[in-house]
Amino acid sequence: MTAINEFVKKFYVLSYYMYLILFIFGKFMLLNFYKKALKVKQSTLNYRTLSTSSSPLLCFSSNDYLGLSNHPQIKKHWTEAINLYQSGATGSRLLSGNHDFINAFETQIALDKHQEAALIFNTGFQANLTILATLLNKQVLEQEPMVFADRLNHASMHAGCQLANVRQQRYQHLDLNHLETLLQKSHQSPHPKFILTESIFGMDGDQADLEGLAALAEKYDAFLYVDEAHATGVAGTSGYGLTPDVKGRIHGVMGTFSKALGLAGAYFGSDQVIIDYLINYAPGFIYSTAQPFPLLYTASKTWEMVPHLEKQREHLQYLSHLLQEKLRYLGIKTATSTSHIFGFVLESSGKTLEVAAILKAQGITVSAIRPPTVPMGTSRLRIALRANHTENDIHQLIEILSKCAHFFEQ
Ligand SMILES: Cc1ncc(COP(=O)(O)O)c(C=O)c1O
Repeated sequence: MTAINEFVKKFYVLSYYMYLILFIFGKFMLLNFYKKALKVKQSTLNYRTLSTSSSPLLCFSSNDYLGLSNHPQIKKHWTEAINLYQSGATGSRLLSGNHDFINAFETQIALDKHQEAALIFNTGFQANLTILATLLNKQVLEQEPMVFADRLNHASMHAGCQLANVRQQRYQHLDLNHLETLLQKSHQSPHPKFILTESIFGMDGDQADLEGLAALAEKYDAFLYVDEAHATGVAGTSGYGLTPDVKGRIHGVMGTFSKALGLAGAYFGSDQVIIDYLINYAPGFIYSTAQPFPLLYTASKTWEMVPHLEKQREHLQYLSHLLQEKLRYLGIKTATSTSHIFGFVLESSGKTLEVAAILKAQGITVSAIRPPTVPMGTSRLRIALRANHTENDIHQLIEILSKCAHFFEQ
């Protein structure tokens, strides 16, 4: 009996060590796959790390376009909100995480965006991902929708289409003739059509022709979906973006509180039926805890401030013209910027990193944008102006850029 017990004991010990060896080996194999993927990034100079800066740099890489992230009035709203409300939402909006002030905020967003209704999402990425995946649902539409997307749309829109498992027909950036050619080919098709675009493009700072897109959407009976992440707060007659000026002709408009509003979160405005549909079917809305109430309260107060920030928008525009003019004088070409965002297309990721490093050594940060943020084989230096930059900041930037002019020659 003791011999049997001894055998069983040894068997268990041996099995344990065998399992441990297999586990360690399996984990080693698994990590190797990820290491291999990282090596690809390193070899193409597209490897990313999280850096912070200890020295005070002149920053041209932030999306805080109106300089609101450090605004005393907005900070006051935060403290006010912390005293007024609980800090966490405690649940999704459909369970314990809703409040009257959030409903009122959505009603206000809808009004300001000339939409029937609006819905808040936790981030811009999550919004595009879950809204598009839900709108493009093949089962609900009872067929595969036809999706026409600008080639330079943000990754979150692509991700939404991918999640819906629908094919995108990508038209050349801002090229409405190309879009119409694609739409014409499918004119007879009964499949529902969607056109997806940004209004101000986040990488190059150029603008979609919303009137032209609306006309095509009407002609070909397509749903026009516009992402106003980079326009909200800085563009349009009211400051709420470009879509309110195209009254009633945009079917779905998404935007964020994370750029010019200096906070975090996103909104989507559309027909009431579509908002009700998202409340009932969008997993990223249904199954996610709502944002902390102080954040949403501060976002609602910041939203109210937008029409009154005309001075900041004017200054931003002035700085943008100044930079455009100086760049023209230096013969440095930007992509097609018509806003406060400037994209400089460079030959390779290596060159982009080199220029960013030269600027950094001189105390200036800019963004080196590499694939997959922009299409493979392209690379950009991105400069974003803010309303709290000064003329002198632009002169400093230009002085260093002038020394790098040879990198930009095409
Ligand atoms: C056009 C566009 N849409 C959506 C997003 C995502 O927004 P958020 O940063 O709030 O997640 C971004 C972010 O850069 C963006 O540029």
